[in-house]
Amino acid sequence: MAHEVRPLSFDPGSLDGISADQITNHHGKKYSGYVTKLNEIEALLPQADKSKANASYSEFRELKREEPFSHNGIILHELYFANLGGDGAIDGGSDLAKKLAADFGSVDAFKEDMTAVGKSGRGWAVAAYSLLDGKIHTYLMDLHDIGGVFYTLPLLVLDVYEHAYYIDYKNDAPAYIAKFWNNVDWSVVAKRYADCVAMVGSRTAAELIGAKQLV
Ligand SMILES: [Fe+2]
Repeated sequence: MAHEVRPLSFDPGSLDGISADQITNHHGKKYSGYVTKLNEIEALLPQADKSKANASYSEFRELKREEPFSHNGIILHELYFANLGGDGAIDGGSDLAKKLAADFGSVDAFKEDMTAVGKSGRGWAVAAYSLLDGKIHTYLMDLHDIGGVFYTLPLLVLDVYEHAYYIDYKNDAPAYIAKFWNNVDWSVVAKRYADCVAMVGSRTAAELIGAKQLV
């Protein structure tokens, strides 16, 4: 089934310091463009000649190479838009706040780390829960398909491509990132975290990856 554009879950004019023009251009042109391209790729793949698969060039290679770029472009944008629209206030007594304090020292220390990742990255800053070690990590992604780690699930996603802020902030990424924090919907992040914990249950990393036990 073809992928479809997921509508925004908040009024694009309701954010603090990120304009409706910025959000609607980002959502309506950039994000939706990845949906269009993934649909094109998935339509072409069944017809691509696998007998000509080649690591220098082949139609099959190029389609497979671009498939995760567009697909992650969709997923990361949907996560980003979904964790916007809040008031930036985290419940200090929540399981998520306690976990951030345990893994980073404090919620403020986590935000400092994530901000530094955002300032250092060219694409995304992603806070993700590792199903294997049970910790929250921050990852720097220079492109949609570079920098993520398998067996982690995104909790909080910050788009730092210039297209995410150039209408409002020109090239001032730090000013945009500072405003991002005022708009985080922490209830969404907390729900993602709770889902991760429930998903793992009592299973160990070895059980999760199917590693054989040496005896
Ligand atoms: Fe984006």
